Amino acid sequence: MANIISGKELSAKLKDELKIKVKEFEETYGRKITLAVILVGENPASQVYVKNKIKSTEYVGMRSLAYYLPENSTEKDVEETVLALAKDVNVDGILVQLPLPKHLDEGKILNLIPAEKDVDGFLAENVGKLVIGEETTVACTPFGVMQMLKSTNIPLSGKNAVVIGRSNIVGKPMALLLLQANCTVTVCHSKTVNLKEICANADVLVAAIGRPEFVTADMVKEGAIVIDVGINRTEKGLVGDVKFYEVEKKASYITPVPGGVGPMTIAMLLENTYLCALRREKNA
Ligand code: GUN
Repeated sequence: MANIISGKELSAKLKDELKIKVKEFEETYGRKITLAVILVGENPASQVYVKNKIKSTEYVGMRSLAYYLPENSTEKDVEETVLALAKDVNVDGILVQLPLPKHLDEGKILNLIPAEKDVDGFLAENVGKLVIGEETTVACTPFGVMQMLKSTNIPLSGKNAVVIGRSNIVGKPMALLLLQANCTVTVCHSKTVNLKEICANADVLVAAIGRPEFVTADMVKEGAIVIDVGINRTEKGLVGDVKFYEVEKKASYITPVPGGVGPMTIAMLLENTYLCALRREKNA
């Protein structure tokens, strides 16, 4: 039976450690770290995410600024909100909750966030720095997965790592981080031939495809570390991209859903906000 990597426990520990660093920052620089969150519209899942982000921001001792804009906001309304926060010297991080309503140009809006306030690590400048191995803000979910892998104390160097999914938010940065950790990385996606065989050769398997219980036991190598990034709402309730009860019998480590990668994402958002604030002070 696999060991469970609890994101709930690990994120709580990281948030408590961050709380101390945030207090030290405040003592050193005489100001609070501030994260601004913008939510446009009334997507119920986004409302829950934003509520949890604000709650955790305050828990670690940072100041949170929340902007709730109506569903029918114009491009100009949202752009003005982002631009005001971009200019505000008291704001360290800006998060625009995605997805935005369909009539808004996501790329255009995100690109108004200065790279040094991009706590999501979504901007081309920050992704580019990740590619060439420069210090930067890394997207929260893959950053959180790396902390979970680190918590196992298993060396990653030389391991075969397979990432299922190639999104800009998870799959691509995940592959880059695993490569940086000296893994041999394969990225699988919907057009991959022999997906099952490739996965079955993975020492580290990261599932980020958004298909409920897609990864079955026959796709998993005995003793593999299996990380489930999926959160799918089904008739059975919340399930991941991994068929947990089958795969836990074969894996050495596995992450649960819920209580796995999800809570880590918020902890890493706060870590990113802290790092952005620190970099801004150091570059001031
Ligand atoms: N929507 C779902 N996940 C995320 C995230 O990590 N960041 C932002 N900005 N929006 C999201």
